Amino acid sequence: MNRLVVGALASLTLLAGCDKGKSGPDPFALLEGEGIYKAECASCHGAAGEGQADWRTRRADGKLPAPPHDASGHTWHHPMAQLFAMVKFGMVPPNAPEGYVSDMPAFAGKLTDKQIHNVLAYIESKWPAEIHARRAERFPPQ
Ligand code: HEC
Repeated sequence: MNRLVVGALASLTLLAGCDKGKSGPDPFALLEGEGIYKAECASCHGAAGEGQADWRTRRADGKLPAPPHDASGHTWHHPMAQLFAMVKFGMVPPNAPEGYVSDMPAFAGKLTDKQIHNVLAYIESKWPAEIHARRAERFPPQ
């Protein structure tokens, strides 16, 4: 439990850095994020964030399978604000070309902004220390 709380606080601190102007970190945010992940994301992105098989290869219908959110995927390559926009609005411009067809739903209207932040905080909390370090280099707090 202690490790969970320490991890939660560490990643909430990171998140808070990209989230100026919002209310401060909530130690229960990760638990809510985990629940949302299991209910809304795991069916496609995998219970452990492993993604769907052959996620880099478009299917016959032209759509891409769901990518992993763990260290093997590319979720961590994106700044938090962009991840937030993709979850809230789906794969639409500026994060995808106009008319792009994808299975990734838009969660606006289904999840509140806070719930989206919390589910992303949960995904972020699963990344190993090395990925956190690389993200801190790539996306220094402004
Ligand atoms: C019905 C299946 C499905 C569900 C449910 C789903 N996704 Fe996705 N998601 C996808 C697919 C497919 C893509 C790849 C989109 C593309 O490039 O065409 C994707 C892409 C993404 C991306 C951008 C790619 C990346 O990893 O950077 C993020 C972030 C993401 N999903 C987060 C979530 C979160 C968070 C949830 C739950 C709140 C969720 N998704 C629920 C199918 C799904």
